[in-house]
Amino acid sequence: MYVCLCRGITDQDIKDAIADGAESYREVRDMLDLGTCCGRCAPEARAIISDEVSQIAARLAIAA
Ligand code: FES
Repeated sequence: MYVCLCRGITDQDIKDAIADGAESYREVRDMLDLGTCCGRCAPEARAIISDEVSQIAARLAIAA
């Protein structure tokens, strides 16, 4: 699913950026150039990032 239409960035691109080490909206934005045109994607991107980071944290807590 496309999240950022201006830059052609999908939810999977965002998840891949997090898997590559991004931990915040700012870091994902810097890695992908996300939200740097009209900015309309920012709320949805933030929600995806928050959800993905929370899921990773939960998996790590279970594994610990
Ligand atoms: S939709 Fe992402 S910058 Fe426009």
